[in-house]
Parts: sequence; C-alpha cells; structure tokens
Amino acid sequence: MPQITYDLMDNRADKKINVGVIFIHGAAGCSQVWKNQLRGLPTKVIAVNLPCHFSSEGPESPSMETYVESIYELITKLELDKVILGGHSMGGAIALSYYLRYPSKVHGLILIGTGARLRVLPVILDLTQKNYTQFIKMMDNAGFHKETCKNNKELVKEVAKNMAQIAPHIAFCDFSICNQFDIMERLGEISVPTLIICGDDDKLTPLKYSKYLQEYIKDSTLHIVKEAGHLVMLEKGEEVNTLIKSFIKEI
Ligand code: COA
Repeated sequence: MPQITYDLMDNRADKKINVGVIFIHGAAGCSQVWKNQLRGLPTKVIAVNLPCHFSSEGPESPSMETYVESIYELITKLELDKVILGGHSMGGAIALSYYLRYPSKVHGLILIGTGARLRVLPVILDLTQKNYTQFIKMMDNAGFHKETCKNNKELVKEVAKNMAQIAPHIAFCDFSICNQFDIMERLGEISVPTLIICGDDDKLTPLKYSKYLQEYIKDSTLHIVKEAGHLVMLEKGEEVNTLIKSFIKEI
C-alpha cells in the first residue's frame, strides 16, 4: 500500500494531549478542501490526499478498500492517543466504512455533506468518463450555494482548478464507489459521538441524508448551516469550525 500524503497543522495549546482530527475529502477532491479547518481548529489537524489524488500514489483503480486501508496505515503511523475522523461526501462514506471495520480506533465522527447511501446521477458518471471539463463546470453550480457562486468566484475557481488536477478516471472511480455505498441498515452499530453538518441547499447530498444519519446514529447531533451548499466547510468555514470546536471539547 503506497503511503498517502497529507497536510498537518499542529494548533494545540497543550502539546501533552495528543488528539488528532483526520479529515477525508470527497470524490475528485484533495486536502485543500479543509483549508479553513487546517488553520482554524485548536487541535492537531490532518487533511489527507487519498490514494491517486494530488501527490498521493495508488493503484490504477482505487476502491473503498484501498481508501479505508490507507487511512488505517496513516492512523497507525501517526500514533495519536485519540482519533476523530471527519469526512465530506465520499470522505464521509470512507469515515463510516473505516469505523465499521475498526471501531476501537475512532473516538468521534464528523460527517459533513454526506449520507449512509450515496447514489450518483447518471450524468455525473457519464461526464467523468466522456467530458471531464464539462463535469467540472457542472460542479460549480452543483457544489455551492448560489450566493457563493455570485459573491465568492475566487473560491469556486480554486475548487475547479484543484478538481482539474485529478485524473478523470480516478474521478469516475470515486463516483462509482459512492454509487455502490450503502450502509443504511448498519447505522445502529455506531456508538461514538457523531457531529453531522449539512448546508441547507446541499444539492449533491440533500439534507434528507443528514437527517437520516441523525435519526439512526444514537449519539449524534445535526447542524444545518444556512445559505450553504455541498461544500459547506469551504463556504462557511468559521461557522463549521465553531461547531467542530465545541464537539471536540466534549470528546
Ligand atoms: N439517506 C436517506 N434517504 C436516502 C438516502 C440517504 N443517504 N439515499 C437515498 N435515500 C432515499 C431517497 O430519498 C429515495 O426516497 P424516496 O423513494 O422516498 O424518494 C430512496 O431512498 C431511493 O433513492 P436513491 O437510492 O437515491 O435512488 P433514486 O433512483 O430515487 O435516485 C438519484 C437516484 C441519483 C437521482 C439520487 O440518488 C440523487 O439525486 N442523488 C444526489 C445527486 C448525486 O449524484 N449526488 C452525488 C453523491 S456523491
């Protein structure tokens, strides 16, 4: 298994407490989707580049298994006392799959813009194979709230630029992994504290998905962020960080 690359910020005031939050990006994403969290959380923050994304190497066709095992290796290497696993969209599916395989290794979950089942629109699967440029254009509107598209064009451009760095066949693999993901019947197995965050205008993983997570994960809380879309942690960085800070304090 090739080692994955990651960004690490150690913002802890008390270096004796070795708690780390590991963030996993979504399909066709990279560590930079967590730039607000890397800067703004008073803990050790690790944002990974999954195998085959950005500077991380990996197999020709990565699978959920590839991603889960890469997180296992990273957690083993980091030797943290406590691990909080955070994921966005497909990253949330990976965090959930990781927890279901290695429950004793995780002390809390942060699930952002994700769900227990992630069926994908056929047009997304089609465009990642046939017209990646068109797919990226489609993601501008699908990924963000309309106010972000209007008032924060720089952010929209930056995400599109990062997405363009991902090989189209890897984006297709990612969305195929999402399309097969379904743990709707297994949420009762989750017993760690879980923070769920969703933008009120999330078009890719609708609010209904987060409400379902909240209903079936015993120790969970759902926060709906207003005027935000699928990429809520980029659109409303401070608000999301405030929610994560108070969640971490309780763990
Ligand atoms: N949590 C709660 N409910 C869910 C769910 C989840 N994670 N995933 C699906 N469901 C529900 C749906 O709302 C639907 O309920 P309904 O019959 O009461 O309307 C039912 O389960 C079946 O939905 P689904 O499995 O998604 O199949 P579908 O044929 O109805 O829809 C899509 C397929 C692709 C149109 C739809 O999943 C969608 O719009 N997805 C979001 C867009 C997308 O591509 N996102 C990318 C995710 S990475």
